[in-house]
Amino acid sequence: MSVDISEILAFLPCETPQSWVDAALMHPEEMLIDHANCEKKAAGTALNLMFRYVDKPDLLTKMSKLAREELRHFEQVMAIMKKRGVAYRHLSSARYANGLRTEARTSEPHKLTDILIIGALIEARSCERFARIAPLLDSELSAFYTSLLKSESRHFKDYLSLAKQYANEDIAPRIDVFKQQEQLLIESEDEVFRFHSGPLAA
Ligand SMILES: [Fe+2]
Ligand SMILES: [Fe+2]
Repeated sequence: MSVDISEILAFLPCETPQSWVDAALMHPEEMLIDHANCEKKAAGTALNLMFRYVDKPDLLTKMSKLAREELRHFEQVMAIMKKRGVAYRHLSSARYANGLRTEARTSEPHKLTDILIIGALIEARSCERFARIAPLLDSELSAFYTSLLKSESRHFKDYLSLAKQYANEDIAPRIDVFKQQEQLLIESEDEVFRFHSGPLAA
């Protein structure tokens, strides 16, 4: 199954650095555990939006479907971990999502616009990383990560279209703000390896 992710590559401000790919191959357990965390957090974010914005039916429908898919992905990662004897343990969060949220505005309706743009970026980056690393993994993980591309690229589109739909402003300048911040988080040195980390400090 091949999925066209050219729209995602065009949206993202930069490619994942090769040094992150190298680090991922050296930290297979952390990658799986943090991937499980990412899926769980993605479901949680969608549910939070559903509690906060009950007056927006399109958001409720899209986020409900998204949360279900993320929980399904979570179960799939857990099954692979179990098969491989990887124990789920606590891992600190990557700086990535919080680093993006520091740029978010706090009053409505801007708050929602910014959260949705951040959601689009996180989904796009996840998709890019799955595509980038899939060919380098064993056949089971490679097939799993390739199977995620379709849903993650749809999640990217859903977040972006909701941002356009509910914003009362031109969102292009806001997308630029978050893209700049995202590039910084992806390209600057990081302390620990995570699914969304930057290159590891030497
Ligand atoms: Fe997912
Ligand atoms: Fe997703």
